[in-house]
Amino acid sequence: MSAQRVQEIFERETAAFEAANPRSRELYERARGSLLGGVPMSWMMKWAGGFPLFAASAGGSTITDVDGHAYADFCLGDTGAMTGHAPAAVAGTVAEQAARALTTMLPSPDAPVVGEALRERFGLPLWQMTLSATDANRFAIRFGREITGRPRILIFNWCYHGSVDETFATLRGGRVVAREGNVGPPVDPGSTTRVVEFNDVAALEAALAEGDVPCVLAEPAMTNIGIVLPDPGFHDALRALTRRYGTLLIIDETHTLSTGYGGYTREYGLEPDLLTVGKPIGGGVPAGAFGMTQEVAERALAQPDADYVDTGGVGGTLAGNALSLAAMRAALTEVLTQESYARTIPLAERFEAGVRVAIERHGAPWHVTRLGSRVEYAFTPEQPRTGGEAAAAHDDELESLLHLYVLNRGVLMTPFHNMALMGPTTTKEQVDLHTTVFSEALDELFAGPEPGTG
Ligand SMILES: Cc1ncc(COP(=O)(O)O)c(C=O)c1O
Repeated sequence: MSAQRVQEIFERETAAFEAANPRSRELYERARGSLLGGVPMSWMMKWAGGFPLFAASAGGSTITDVDGHAYADFCLGDTGAMTGHAPAAVAGTVAEQAARALTTMLPSPDAPVVGEALRERFGLPLWQMTLSATDANRFAIRFGREITGRPRILIFNWCYHGSVDETFATLRGGRVVAREGNVGPPVDPGSTTRVVEFNDVAALEAALAEGDVPCVLAEPAMTNIGIVLPDPGFHDALRALTRRYGTLLIIDETHTLSTGYGGYTREYGLEPDLLTVGKPIGGGVPAGAFGMTQEVAERALAQPDADYVDTGGVGGTLAGNALSLAAMRAALTEVLTQESYARTIPLAERFEAGVRVAIERHGAPWHVTRLGSRVEYAFTPEQPRTGGEAAAAHDDELESLLHLYVLNRGVLMTPFHNMALMGPTTTKEQVDLHTTVFSEALDELFAGPEPGTG
């Protein structure tokens, strides 16, 4: 596969995309007059093709755009719609709730129901609501710093936990530096953050032994730089070391909720001090949450100077609003059920098998990994063991080409990953459509003579 071939196919696919999507293009041109980059949130500029599709509707696992094309959606709102789009239980509940109350500064009757649902699912006894996973992480970190009095959180190289200032740090030549592209970092992240590679137990111990780490913030398996799975025994070591050095363990289940009903934590019996989650728990309505042990709660509330009720840095006016709580109740109790995972995981296995066969058929030096209902392929023959290894294997051009190729044939992948997520509404036909168009892409990329060789 040559760079020239990638470029040629990309140009052809871009022209096809433009020709097929005049209405999206028109809306994009108009939006450029009032929206930065022509989009309501700048990351939407990431879509391959030169402009994003504008979605007219999204139901189940299908998105229909303003030009009338229907897409098998494996992006599912980058996990925000892991429940499927607008699931009936959530949509109905939200409509009813909207007629009753939206936001009041008072808890609604759904509050304890949601707290109990989160407790039952993840095992942690006490919860707080936020509007996003980013906020859940920010507040969990603040709890950690407050109760330990230590300054520098620890993260794994190339992690992503939302737009949390302390986490925009990477390792360069063994030093902690601002992550590439970090927009206006408030302070040198070396002063707030320690970074080690995932699965590197020795580096983890050395960093924790410094005695200044309040908390480790970790996804149980990395999902944002491709999927990086923990080595056998890594989580045991992580938990033992954090306990030994008096460091709290925050597990971010926002994406790994794909693993099973109670995320990776429940599936593998992890014992975090705090757990954060967001994205699909409101079924598409903004919602996030963080849970904690009794001990963390007691220590947090015992801090004489910490202000939890006013301007202490933990909060959000609309956090815990009646609409989000109603949506969480419906999503947690009626949509993200055990039965739903029994359906989505076999679909993900089917997706994974399709990708694997195509990769093997072409002898492509790629691999595919699965985490419950989430599948990701990447451009290395072996699974990476660290974020650094995964980052080194990144190929933006190839990734964009593959995304555009499948998009032009009715399949949406997450623009930030080669990730596909199955929802309870995903069908076998949609999975097989991906297998077909992915195989066609590989046929073009790997088969036949290279351009210019006749
Ligand atoms: C693991 C993880 N945590 C937290 C977040 C932040 O979620 P949000 O942007 O909805 O706040 C993300 C977003 O991709 C994530 O992948």
